[in-house]
Amino acid sequence: MRLLFASSEIFPLAKTGGLADVAGSLPIALHASKLDVRLLMPAYPGVAEKSAARPVGNLGDPFGLGSTVILEGHLPGTDLPLWLIDNPNLYDRDGGPYLNGDGHNWPDNDMRFGLLSWVAARLGQTNSPLGWVPDILHLQDWQTGLASAYLNAWGGQRPGLVFTIHNMAYQGVFPADLVPRLGLPWSFYTPDGFEFWNQLSYLKAGLIYSDKLTTVSPTYAREIQTADYGFGMEGVLTARSRDLSGILNGADYAIWDPAKDSYLTRRYGPADVRAGKAANKAALQKDLGLPESPDAPLLVAITRLSDQKGMDLLLSAMPAVIAQGAQLALVGTGERALEDAFVALARSRPDHVAVRIGYSEDLAHRLQAAADFVLMPSRFEPCGLTQIYALRYGTLPIVHRTGGLADTIVDATYDTMLVGRATGLVFDQPTVSAFQWCIERAIGLYRHPEQMARIQATGMRQDFGWQRAADHYINLYRAIRPGTA
Ligand code: ADP
Ligand code: GLC
Repeated sequence: MRLLFASSEIFPLAKTGGLADVAGSLPIALHASKLDVRLLMPAYPGVAEKSAARPVGNLGDPFGLGSTVILEGHLPGTDLPLWLIDNPNLYDRDGGPYLNGDGHNWPDNDMRFGLLSWVAARLGQTNSPLGWVPDILHLQDWQTGLASAYLNAWGGQRPGLVFTIHNMAYQGVFPADLVPRLGLPWSFYTPDGFEFWNQLSYLKAGLIYSDKLTTVSPTYAREIQTADYGFGMEGVLTARSRDLSGILNGADYAIWDPAKDSYLTRRYGPADVRAGKAANKAALQKDLGLPESPDAPLLVAITRLSDQKGMDLLLSAMPAVIAQGAQLALVGTGERALEDAFVALARSRPDHVAVRIGYSEDLAHRLQAAADFVLMPSRFEPCGLTQIYALRYGTLPIVHRTGGLADTIVDATYDTMLVGRATGLVFDQPTVSAFQWCIERAIGLYRHPEQMARIQATGMRQDFGWQRAADHYINLYRAIRPGTA
């Protein structure tokens, strides 16, 4: 079976969050299951060099924004073929995939991801100039949603279309005059098509015109069919519920395993978790300028600072947390007001709080290893990978019971501890008081090292490897294209 996997970010070439982790690991697991997989993403600066890519085809100039060339390379460290869309006018600029250096959306994201979608569709046609025709085109999030609309509009034979929702909060909604500019038919601009409140929705295009829809956890698949979590698309999703499934993400243990992690001060496994975490904690406290107290519970957050992640709840809970003697270390970037508030907190309480604003792969790994608890009070969380990684590092997740957090963490109650199933701490309402109470429960647990150790050991034993998810996706691909191997 031939699979083209399109994404706006792929680790280690471009990453703002978990989507990149998924796009950099799920295809490897699919490839290991003998699928002929190719990856597709834009040629952001530096990406062609890192993947040793060279020109292999020319797609002309569909939108009058300069010619579009396809480069072929490999996902670094693998033999997975990677196609890059080289259009310097759209992609060759410093900044992130979605935001410029000031944190504002690129003004031409409509064209940047319109082109990504168009190319994905074009390479899915039987007369693809690359001479390799996929059986399945697997699209990720709104940035690729229009690909399904193009292929339906163009008619003729087309690949099976799978659209995966990683986050309903981001929808790619733009003015209607783009419809002709992108070469799309007005006949699709209806409430049953990609029109959404008098605008063009790239996400809705993906939801309407794909054969199968998936999202990244079973609980989120249910939640997004309700008004509380659907961001206005609950009706569309309910109408398509027969084609919608939740497939839990995996963890790439080649990258996230404390026994092999080269970022760590000291590597460790289940047998020496206590000594290993103590060494990493001491080194981190020193580096971040926190008091080097081995007995202070260390809470960490590794996160985008957006409303989704509930970090405002953490700010409100911090006075009580500090009063309990805990430390907080946070690495994050995002909304300016949250960044400023955490920096101010660290300045006023350097004896308990260290904050690094920005994106740091190094710190993300070291915080996972050093921490006693990782905090995820997310208001919604499609899957969440940080809590899954934390389990392998012997770090107890403290999470709101929502989406993938509900599907991956077992709350430490009297019963679950008795039978050895507990892996973390879970609270039911995304409120300051519920979160604060949960942290206090965690700190209480921390004062009972033998109970902590048992929960840690259970967490470290969990296997969230990608193979299980890959098998689910393969079954889904086969359901659309029964004849393919
Ligand atoms: P989301 O995709 O919503 O951001 P996930 O938990 O699925 O949440 O994935 C987050 C990924 O991004 C993890 O790999 C995490 O380590 C990483 N990450 C988030 N913020 C940062 C940061 N500031 N620095 C480094 N890595 C980060
Ligand atoms: C999104 C979600 C996150 C999920 C990730 C990968 O960024 O916010 O919950 O883990 O995508 O699917």
